[in-house]
Amino acid sequence: MKWAMLNFFMFICFQSSCIKSQQQYSANEPLNCTNKSLYTCNGQHPSCTSFLIFKSQSPYNSVATIAALMSTNPSELALINNVSKTTIFPRDKEIIIPVNCSCNQQYYQATTSYHISPQSLTYFVVANLTFQGLSTCGSLIHANPYNQYELKDGFELKVPLRCACPTKDQILNGTKYLLTYRLSFGDTVNLVASRFNITVKSLLQANRISKTNTVYPFTTLLIPLPDKPSISETVIQRYNPPSSLSPARTSKARKSIIVGIAVVCSFLVILVSLVTILGVLYMRRKRKNENMTENEILPEDLLMKIASFERIIKVYSFKELQTATENFAHKRWIKGSVYRGLFGNQIFAVKKMGIDVCKQVNMLSKINHINLVKLYGFCKHQDSWYLVFEYMKMGSLKEWLKQTHSLRRRVQIAIDVANGLRYLHNFAKPGYVHNNLNTSNILLDGNLRAKISNFSLARKIDDVNDTRIVGTRGYMAPEYLGSGLITSKVDVYSFGVVLLELMTGKDAVFRYEGQEMLLKAAICAIMEGENAESEIWGMIDLGNEEIGSMDYAVQVVKLSLNCMKHDQESRPSMDEIVSSLVKIKIDLQCKTIGKYVE
Ligand SMILES: *[C@@H]1O[C@H](CO)[C@@H](O)[C@H](O)[C@H]1NC(C)=O
Ligand SMILES: *[C@@H]1O[C@H](CO)[C@@H](O)[C@H](O)[C@H]1NC(C)=O
Ligand SMILES: *[C@@H]1O[C@H](CO)[C@@H](O)[C@H](O)[C@H]1NC(C)=O
Ligand SMILES: *[C@@H]1O[C@H](CO)[C@@H](O)[C@H](O)[C@H]1NC(C)=O
Ligand SMILES: *[C@@H]1O[C@H](CO)[C@@H](O)[C@H](O)[C@H]1NC(C)=O
Ligand SMILES: *[C@@H]1O[C@H](CO)[C@@H](O)[C@H](O)[C@H]1NC(C)=O
Ligand SMILES: *[C@@H]1O[C@H](CO)[C@@H](O)[C@H](O)[C@H]1NC(C)=O
Repeated sequence: MKWAMLNFFMFICFQSSCIKSQQQYSANEPLNCTNKSLYTCNGQHPSCTSFLIFKSQSPYNSVATIAALMSTNPSELALINNVSKTTIFPRDKEIIIPVNCSCNQQYYQATTSYHISPQSLTYFVVANLTFQGLSTCGSLIHANPYNQYELKDGFELKVPLRCACPTKDQILNGTKYLLTYRLSFGDTVNLVASRFNITVKSLLQANRISKTNTVYPFTTLLIPLPDKPSISETVIQRYNPPSSLSPARTSKARKSIIVGIAVVCSFLVILVSLVTILGVLYMRRKRKNENMTENEILPEDLLMKIASFERIIKVYSFKELQTATENFAHKRWIKGSVYRGLFGNQIFAVKKMGIDVCKQVNMLSKINHINLVKLYGFCKHQDSWYLVFEYMKMGSLKEWLKQTHSLRRRVQIAIDVANGLRYLHNFAKPGYVHNNLNTSNILLDGNLRAKISNFSLARKIDDVNDTRIVGTRGYMAPEYLGSGLITSKVDVYSFGVVLLELMTGKDAVFRYEGQEMLLKAAICAIMEGENAESEIWGMIDLGNEEIGSMDYAVQVVKLSLNCMKHDQESRPSMDEIVSSLVKIKIDLQCKTIGKYVE
């Protein structure tokens, strides 16, 4: 019924006798998963360059993510769409995807791979939604070993994409490329032909459509092109429900208004972020010209962060890991069960885990922030799991704190960690509590930017069903020890402890005159005592030339005590903490600049 309502019909007069050699329009056959429904190898050449049209849809809305989804070269993708490699596309923008199309067992295909996500647990959904009909469920069933009813999150699928190479006849008639285009509501053969500036006749011939054929939305047509497709032929396609067909007219109309508002809003968001980035870049360039010593790396990070918005997690073979780590050689050992792996010319950290890491991988594939250590892939071998992470050159904060460093560096690290937690609490979907923050789990990259790692104890915020008590001694909030209740304030508490360690250079639990002491207890005792100011100076780890910055260090200590308040409600949120730290950083900078001016 629905189909009958939504379909649009086209009746075209055509003689079908002379067109046998072209591809047959397969109508709705790809929706029935029995046949492969790819185009047959009837072209002049067994392989060729061909093109697909894909509509930008979050998370596949940037050059990086679309190229990864389609296994195509990002530079070529950017070039043919006349954009830069860091471009984010608006929703529903048509993107031209260049692919290498070749004949495989009678059928043309371009192959890519895809990791099943919880939203795409059937071959049909992968073909129709994720790949927008550019693949077919029948071909997925043939190409993959998994039973279609037993697909699981994280499985790697081989995905054949529908493409074809021109036939001898077409080449003689000037066609150089075939483009695979999925019809939308409202498309007609005439409209499509005129958009791609080809004759209706050649379009009909290329798809062997005759007068009794109907073309359906969500099915593909081949567009014969004399030249590479150009960006001028692509549009932003928005589908508005055909309200005249719907009995529930008013509610639909309202819905489309809401959709409209949502679209406008997301445009605004994109616009605002672009303007911000451009602004930051401009400021950066300006500042660079004025003051070459300033070496802020933020804008580039920001760009990278946005360009790789949704994460693509690779499944490695054990062999690849063995090669990368020289079979887990001692010289590649970093610490614990972590090894340095060389993958091509990139260094990653490979961590062996005894436990099932599915939950962690699932979580890490959804979070993406510059201050959280990135997961690139994983591997399962026998009973062990291996996680492949971003390599953090400077090791853990705990090790780093064994030496003396400038206050400014340390405040920057505090800001990095606070930003990572802020994202995890407020912006990740769902929100998470890290639940095991300590200086061993904070790692530093080559630019001394801090990132949070080790999410093995992380939990969804406010998960009432999960109250096991885990964590690290000296960092755990009192309410957690009492009831096991998890809120974001548990991380705020641990962050307070990290701040104290950053300011004092001492461990969360340290030895003093042969006795173990909690750092928090020691600092609290001092701050509540008689000569708080002067005594706290003795605890803070500043070089002599920095004594003038002591006030700022004391401000950080006070902030940390707020974070560790017994009553979790009175602890600040990560938002407030980030603001306070940024203010301290700016004051610190102004003071330094002021000194040079004098
Ligand atoms: C599958 O292919 C066969 C032979 O090519 C054809 O007869 C059949 O109709 C196709 N099935 C569907 C569902 O279209
Ligand atoms: C698919 O097509 C075959 C015949 O080609 C038919 O027997 C079968 O019922 C169809 N399946 C669905 C789900 O439509
Ligand atoms: C097609 O293959 C060639 C050679 O392997 C490669 O250089 C090119 O980047 C590929 N094209 C695309 C669009 O991936
Ligand atoms: C490519 O983009 C540039 C500027 O972004 C524009 O001037 C040029 O006309 C575009 N080319 C095509 C073919 O659209
Ligand atoms: C296929 O995908 C389109 C959207 O891309 C959707 O509207 C349509 O309902 C899907 N078809 C089926 C049978 O689920
Ligand atoms: C090629 O062009 C000739 C003459 O216009 C036409 O008769 C023939 O059908 C065309 N063939 C194809 C495959 O487009
Ligand atoms: C459309 O194609 C014709 C030749 O078939 C060409 O002369 C014309 O310039 C093309 N128009 C555009 C807008 O590309």
